[in-house]
Amino acid sequence: MAAADREQQTDEPSVISYPLKRTSPFEPPAEYACLRANDPVTRVRLVSGDEAWLVTRYHDVKAVLADTRFSADATRAGFPRFRTGFPRLAAGGVKNITRTGGLMFMRLDPPKHDVLRQMVTSEFSTHRMRAFRPWIAQKVEGLVDELIAAGPPADLVSAVALPLPSLVICEMLGVPAEDRAFFEEQGSLLMSAKATQRQSLVALKTLAEYFERLVTEKESAPGPGIIGRLIAERLHTGQLEREDLIATLRLLVIAGHETTASMIGLMFAGLLARPGELALLRAQPDLIPAAIEEMLRHHTMTMMGLPRVATEDLMIGSTLIRAGEGVIASVVAANWDPSVFPDPDRCDFSRRDRQHVAFGFGVHQCLGQMLARIELAVVLETVLRRMPHLALAVPFERLRFREDLLVFGVDELPVAW
Ligand code: HEM
Repeated sequence: MAAADREQQTDEPSVISYPLKRTSPFEPPAEYACLRANDPVTRVRLVSGDEAWLVTRYHDVKAVLADTRFSADATRAGFPRFRTGFPRLAAGGVKNITRTGGLMFMRLDPPKHDVLRQMVTSEFSTHRMRAFRPWIAQKVEGLVDELIAAGPPADLVSAVALPLPSLVICEMLGVPAEDRAFFEEQGSLLMSAKATQRQSLVALKTLAEYFERLVTEKESAPGPGIIGRLIAERLHTGQLEREDLIATLRLLVIAGHETTASMIGLMFAGLLARPGELALLRAQPDLIPAAIEEMLRHHTMTMMGLPRVATEDLMIGSTLIRAGEGVIASVVAANWDPSVFPDPDRCDFSRRDRQHVAFGFGVHQCLGQMLARIELAVVLETVLRRMPHLALAVPFERLRFREDLLVFGVDELPVAW
């Protein structure tokens, strides 16, 4: 139903502007509690002008993400656009923007999504990630060595949180570590809700062209790493189109970078703001894995939510969603649903058996979650051990939290030790 038609109806639901603002860095917007209780599937208007349904209850969010009748295909009409002026992608993906036009599998539906995801699933297996942990630990030691050598105060975000995810993905993909700064720059342009349309499109094009060149270079001698393996085992065997290969590489760089970097920053900002928790983890480092799960839930920084579009008429609870209407599954609101997480505002490391949805749910559930957990755990263990007197070097109120990115985060984290 068109927005104009809705306005004609007297029982028309009111439309709220989205995203809602946080009033505190460690709490989701206050309106979510009221929406969950009274209006769990509500109309919102995005900065792009698109309207969509915002879903805020935990079980509804999981139901949407588990139901493939809600499409993740950004080329479909009605797919909610979070950015101003971003063009709706034409069918066929980004061919109008880059010469290699595949869509990333995060924005594809089964069966093609499953085929492409399957090609890289083993790269993120538990076995491979465990084997990778010592390499990650060594890199974190190196970053912390440099931080300590430079002396306090230092910015934990630029010294550790930002470089680590790009070092890791460069190593996994098999691209030169010197290209790290390039990935950081393109990644943050692509994830910034405030980047202009032109900046985002240029970043998309630049990243695609970089991978085009690299794949061409590696075709004659694939070498180690994900790119080499995909070329030798999938591209050369005809199982993978070149444009889908490039799109997958773009996805792996984009998906793992800003998310992990933001979570590392927020994790330390939260712990430094609540010294009791920091002391607890120093005294009982075996609590670290549970603490990380709880911080992922509590800080959920994918604050815009996960966009989908209905492919047929269906119900969420008692609300009818028409085919072609956009839906946003708010993982932030779901992770603070008190019917599943009692006293959700308490960051409680002893919570058990509660499945947060910070990594999403269903077929698109985060492929890199095991890797992200390892990066977070290694950084936390290393910093606690190497910097026993870690403290904020500025009053907490002076920290600047970013709302401009699709993921929430802290700009800088000046610390002393
Ligand atoms: C704390 C860090 C991270 C968080 C909170 C996070 C969160 C998420 C979420 C919520 C989704 C689901 C998107 C949707 O359903 O629309 C997702 C998907 C994805 N993530 Fe992560 N992520 C993190 C780190 C990583 C890392 C390190 C990688 C590794 C490269 C990664 C790779 C991916 C990929 C490839 C997808 C798409 C999966 C698919 O569509 O099948 N993520 N992530």
